[in-house]
Amino acid sequence: MYPKFFRPVLFLFPPEFIHRLVAFLLPLLVAIPGMRLILRKTYCLRDKRLERQLFGLTFKNPVGIAAGFDKEARLYNALGSFGFSHVEIGTVTPVGQKGNPRPRLFRLPKDKALINRMGFNNEGMEAVALKLRKQQRTIIIGGNIGKNTLTPNESAHEDYLKCFNALFDLVDYFVVNVSCPNIKGMSKLQDTDKLLFLLQNIQENNRSRPAPKPVLLKISPDLSNSQLDEVIEIVKKTGLDGIIATNTSTSREQLTFSSEEAERIGQGGLSGKPLREKSTQTIRYLHQRSGGTIPIIGVGGISSAEDALEKLAAGASLVQLYTGFVYEGPSIAKKINRKLLQLKHNEPVEE
Ligand code: FNR
Repeated sequence: MYPKFFRPVLFLFPPEFIHRLVAFLLPLLVAIPGMRLILRKTYCLRDKRLERQLFGLTFKNPVGIAAGFDKEARLYNALGSFGFSHVEIGTVTPVGQKGNPRPRLFRLPKDKALINRMGFNNEGMEAVALKLRKQQRTIIIGGNIGKNTLTPNESAHEDYLKCFNALFDLVDYFVVNVSCPNIKGMSKLQDTDKLLFLLQNIQENNRSRPAPKPVLLKISPDLSNSQLDEVIEIVKKTGLDGIIATNTSTSREQLTFSSEEAERIGQGGLSGKPLREKSTQTIRYLHQRSGGTIPIIGVGGISSAEDALEKLAAGASLVQLYTGFVYEGPSIAKKINRKLLQLKHNEPVEE
């Protein structure tokens, strides 16, 4: 129904306009009496066997919404009605910022991909904290934190710490995002010394609290194997709880579109199908090199149950998606979860 009817209609309009429209309509939709129940009946698959325990949290199933979709914490409960176990809000920065000039989000339908250079548009940590305080949560929330575009890398740690403090009581786990390709110089924060300093700073603060929160690191799919080895060392040294692999890529490999089209779109992070393999390779490498000791959340190009299974087989404990939700529609979490149950137990699944 979605790919045949809704998607062609939605794709008639610019992607960011549609995202904003959906973000406006979704909370209204779930506010209609009885609608949550209808959505849950249609899109959620509840089964104890889907549950995952990870860094002290119980996820109802392994499928979540990746950062960037609910940047300002407006949609997480509504997204829970579509069968996702968790939503990663953000990236949140200390001060609200507009992000890059539009257009900054592009669809590549032939490749089932997106390119974005949003640039951390968000309302800032105080506004996000206020929203989180107002709405009771019915879903696990990850707080993805970053630095303001104008903050130089030398003082980036202060921005991360501000966001960490502002959201501490309001999210279930944290993600330190150092891998956005759309913030100038940000990838440099993945350099060993800078990253170590940044994470030590956060962990010091975290450990000084009575109940520390799980902290994960989100990395780029464009890191070399030796860089990934360094990431593993740093994660172990700082006692992080896991890695989110991966963010979007600056690569344009695996795309069918012409160089003129690439030029027209310009810079940005690639997500969706063409990212799938690269992100899976990153997960597999991290899993193998760390001997399976570091929990990994697998993200990148998941648009079917098979794609999700590939990530889990490569070593991910949970998966997240963004672009697959745009292309495949609201039933994707259910499809993945149904397949997982069927495979695991080789038996029909009760709805
Ligand atoms: C993203 N992504 C992202 N990641 C992040 O850590 N912070 C962010 O603010 C954003 N913003 C964002 C905006 C848009 C429009 C897209 C498409 C993506 C990256 C996202 O969380 C995910 O890591 C990648 O998109 C790869 O997954 P998919 O989309 O291939 O499932």
